[in-house]
Amino acid sequence: MKGMEFSCLESTEHWTTGPWRIIHQQMRVSLPTLESSPPPASLHQRSSGMLLDSHGRTITDLRLSVTDRCNFRCTYCLDPGVRFLPRQELLHLDEYVRIIKACMNRGVRTLRLTGGEPTLYPELDELIAEAGSMNLDDMAMTTNGWSIQLDRARQWLDSGLRRLTFSLDTLREDRMKSITRSKTTVQQVLRSIDIAREAGFPRPKINMVVMRDVNGDEVADFAKLARQRDLDVRFIEFMPLGSARDWTASTVQTALETRSAIESNWKLVPFDGDQVSSTSVNWVFEDGADGKLGFIAPVSQPFCGACNRLRITAEGKIRPCLFSHDEWDLKPMLRRSSSSDELERFLIDAAWNKQPGHAIGEDEFRQPERSMSAIGG
Ligand code: 5AD
Ligand code: SF4
Repeated sequence: MKGMEFSCLESTEHWTTGPWRIIHQQMRVSLPTLESSPPPASLHQRSSGMLLDSHGRTITDLRLSVTDRCNFRCTYCLDPGVRFLPRQELLHLDEYVRIIKACMNRGVRTLRLTGGEPTLYPELDELIAEAGSMNLDDMAMTTNGWSIQLDRARQWLDSGLRRLTFSLDTLREDRMKSITRSKTTVQQVLRSIDIAREAGFPRPKINMVVMRDVNGDEVADFAKLARQRDLDVRFIEFMPLGSARDWTASTVQTALETRSAIESNWKLVPFDGDQVSSTSVNWVFEDGADGKLGFIAPVSQPFCGACNRLRITAEGKIRPCLFSHDEWDLKPMLRRSSSSDELERFLIDAAWNKQPGHAIGEDEFRQPERSMSAIGG
């Protein structure tokens, strides 16, 4: 397949110096050439007014990446040599706003802003304010927690951002350095979490990607943190989405293994309040302590059948699934001032073509070209 190359890299002061400063001169990411538009949906689907797919699922959740840039280089996600897109390739504020409106017109009710690292998007505050005025049922954002200021967090909350999720994979400073390859410390991220709470955000969430022989031995420490600070910690199985393409099944510590490790310290009971489309199976402490633990098992117990998500990348590519090989470009439509109807029809067709599942662990599985940072989690 013919590929397209990215060739622009922005360095940020934030990452530690290291050999990748040299490597990034040489590495390029190849992306598949894009189909111009998705195969058309059925007439029934086009007239339904909703984003249905051909496997019986309805899309109500939009994951919108607002930048492909990140100041971390997490080993499981972003290789130091990966180049970011030229800035002019990324969508503008008014284009993100149009996309959110178009999706809402077709039934989307919840929005998660992601990246890369969304706080590196220069017009984030304006976007949150715009989206906050749109009557969504929920708006959340995932951040690596490198920097949150109290006033800004308060302003996000006032504007309609309801929830913040922090990615944090270790509580040990030496591991933080080696996993994220950044200068951000665990203490800094914990401080950001405190600031989020002080600003008024409800129980902040932590996403921990659990990897055997990397950080798998820390799951009980994270459970303890959840108890001590009344946090919602989500343990996520490691998925093959890194630009280094070095995923192996043996590195996956399954949700069951993680829960057993925690249960040798504290007894857990199922939390009965999970929504059907929740990707996380949640538990609370039997002794009534604060905190909640969620187990996300995309590898050992795929939940694709209940998936209600659609992803759109920072440069406007629709990816119906994390593991899609097909993606469709909204940018030409946005830039040639297509009508709302045309835009919505394009979204409907893309949703219809959502694949049934990811097939991780099966013979036909192929890792997508994009890393998580270029998709949006
Ligand atoms: N497997 C599982 N989770 C991942 N994330 C990033 N890459 C992977 C991967 N390969 C997580 C991040 C973040 C969320 C958006 O996705 O840690 O919390
Ligand atoms: Fe790490 Fe997230 Fe940045 Fe990837 S996008 S390098 S997972 S902080």
